[in-house]
Amino acid sequence: MAYPIQRMRRLRANETLRAMVRETNLTVNDLIYPMFILPGRGKKQPIQSMPGVFQFSADKLTDEIREIESLGIPSILLFGLPEHKDEMGSEASDPNGSVQQAVKKIKDLCPQMIVITDVCLCEYTSHGHCGVLKSDKTVDNDRTLDLLAREAISHVQAGCDMVAPSDMMDGRIGYIRNCLDQNGYENIPIMSYAAKFASGFYGPFRDAADCAPQFGDRRSYQMDPGNILEALREVELDIQEGADIVMVKPALAYLDVLKEIKTRFGMPTAAYNVSGEYSLIKAAAAQGWVNEETVMMEVLTAIKRAGADLIITYAAKDAARLL
Ligand code: PBG
Repeated sequence: MAYPIQRMRRLRANETLRAMVRETNLTVNDLIYPMFILPGRGKKQPIQSMPGVFQFSADKLTDEIREIESLGIPSILLFGLPEHKDEMGSEASDPNGSVQQAVKKIKDLCPQMIVITDVCLCEYTSHGHCGVLKSDKTVDNDRTLDLLAREAISHVQAGCDMVAPSDMMDGRIGYIRNCLDQNGYENIPIMSYAAKFASGFYGPFRDAADCAPQFGDRRSYQMDPGNILEALREVELDIQEGADIVMVKPALAYLDVLKEIKTRFGMPTAAYNVSGEYSLIKAAAAQGWVNEETVMMEVLTAIKRAGADLIITYAAKDAARLL
C-alpha cells in the first residue's frame, strides 16, 4: 500500500472496547423526572399526547414514587394543577394546593429524593399566561414577581428541596432569592429556567398542565429561537441574581446554546428535554419508523455531550431501566 491507513476502527471492534473509550456516559444521576399533580383524590390519568406519562393526585403517588426510587432516579420536578383558576393564579401559593400536598407526601415516603418544584403562574391563571395581566392584557412583570416569590415560599414551606422558576419574568431570580433568604431559606437552591425559548415543542405539556394561553402567545416573555447572545445575557443575569443551576429549554433544537453556556459559565447546567421532544419519538416509534430505545438513548447522550450535567426528561424511567 502506498500510504498508511489510520486505523480508527481498532477501538470499535466490540462493546467492551467501545465502552472503555466512550467519552460520554449517561448515568441515572443525570436524570430528573417531571411529574404532573392533580387536585382532588384517587386520580391517575394518562396524558393523551404523552404516551406513558400520567397525572396523579397527591394521594395516588405512592407506587410511582416507589418505582422512581427503585430505579435510582435521584430527583423529580413537580408541576401542579389547581382546583380553580383565576386572574391572579391565587392557588399557586395555597398551602393545601396540589403541589404542596404532593411535596409533603413524597418527602414522607422518600426523604432522600430531591423534590424540585416548578414555580410559574400559567397553570393557575384563568388566562393561561405566566404572570398577571395589566389592563391592556400584557403581562405585568413587576407585579408578578411577588406572586412567584409567594408561590416559591409555599413550596419550600411544604418541604421541597429546590425551586425552579419557569416564568421568564425579568428579575425573578433575584427577587425570589431575596425572599427565600429573608424567610430563613438561604440554603434552598434555585434552578433557573434561564434560557427558555418560545417553542412549539411545549405543545403536549400544555395539555398535561392545562396551561395553554387563552389569547396571544408567550413571545413577549420567552426568548426568540434565533437568539444565542441574548441567551448568554439571560444566563449571566440569572447567575448574578443568585441562580445555583441554570437551564436551557428545550434541549434538542438548542444544543449549541447549551454548549456555549456550559463552556462560558461552567455552572451546573440543566437541559429540559421537553414534552414535544419526547412525544415525537413516541409517535415515530409507534409507527415503527424509529427504534424507541436507540433514539431515546442517543438523544439523552447528545444532550449530555453538549454540556448538560442534568437532564429533565419524561423518558427518565425508561432510560434508567436501560442504564
Ligand atoms: C410553564 C412551563 C412550560 C413548560 C415547563 N414549564 C410550558 C410553557 O412555557 O408554555 C414546558 C415543559 C414541556 O414542554 O415539557 N411555564
